[in-house]
Amino acid sequence: RSVAVLFGGNSSEYEVSLMSAASVLSNIPTDRYQIHMVGITKEGQWIYYTGPVDEIQNGVWCEHPDNRLAWISPDSTAPGLMVASTGGNRLIPLDVVFPVLHGKNGEDGSIQGLMQLAGIPCVGCSVAASAVCMDKVYTNMVLDSAGIPQAKWDWCHVSDYRSSPREILDRVEKLGYPVFVKPANAGSSVGVGKAKDRASLKACIQEAAKWDQKLLFEEGIDGIEVECAVLGNQCPIASVVGEISPCNEFYDYEAKYEADSQLFIPARLPEETSELIRQTAVKAFRALDCSGLARVDFFVRRSDGAVLLNEPNTIPGFTSISMYPKLFDASGLPYPKLLDRLLGLAME
Ligand code: DAL
Ligand code: MG
Repeated sequence: RSVAVLFGGNSSEYEVSLMSAASVLSNIPTDRYQIHMVGITKEGQWIYYTGPVDEIQNGVWCEHPDNRLAWISPDSTAPGLMVASTGGNRLIPLDVVFPVLHGKNGEDGSIQGLMQLAGIPCVGCSVAASAVCMDKVYTNMVLDSAGIPQAKWDWCHVSDYRSSPREILDRVEKLGYPVFVKPANAGSSVGVGKAKDRASLKACIQEAAKWDQKLLFEEGIDGIEVECAVLGNQCPIASVVGEISPCNEFYDYEAKYEADSQLFIPARLPEETSELIRQTAVKAFRALDCSGLARVDFFVRRSDGAVLLNEPNTIPGFTSISMYPKLFDASGLPYPKLLDRLLGLAME
């Protein structure tokens, strides 16, 4: 089977994608798949890459002398990747694409739509499910309608805030402090702030507004942060639950990738709480019409043990320290077998 692994991308999570892809590329079973690497620069240029995997992670992949421009052939009767070469363009037929891309222009339905038009199966969720899960406001609306408990929340357009700031601030304060301010469309906590009073709320709004025109506000939950990995199409399975002990004030970008946050697998929770988390993760996966994979993140509130869904991630981190592969490894599915299953699910 011929698989293209896409990495990089025009997204605030470009660097995370490079780390995820390097790890995926080192774990795909090469006896079963012929791997093609396709890097997308921050500017959005697609490149067929044949250099070493090490140079992906450190970011120098885009300067490799053998790089060739590449693009997905729009001809769905001959699905594949076109690569520019000196003797003319070459078509590499593809059986499946794994978009190891996080955030905008990768996890949001856009790549999924491109692959659908090109007739190439794609690992993970459909166009609609990807788009809904990328936008935290739409996600929360679906979760509310499915009766899945979550923190109290509200949202606005940045333009609403600019035209009547006091009205928005008064509304957000009804959620109580601390309150999280998030760009509706972003990942890895980029642009996310925790406000403790009106002054910091204003500052958090200014920061989040750099990343998106739509903002989400969420009641801060005093609880432990846990994650559950889901795998499958119509009959998804849930992994053991993992727990995060962030080294910072919250599990922000630095705590995720640069500092020493601790993971506990399995989470230090009563078995019935872990079971409720697994069931809720699968319920959310179905309510959001996900397929292939998702990592579903929760809080377990300290005061009463309530399980509150934080967010789903349809292309969760696959770095060497990431939860998704670790959770399935702890559930008896080692990384190479997990990747084989994901690629298989895409081609079902
Ligand atoms: N958005 C990052 C990659 C994650 O959810 O793991
Ligand atoms: Mg996320």
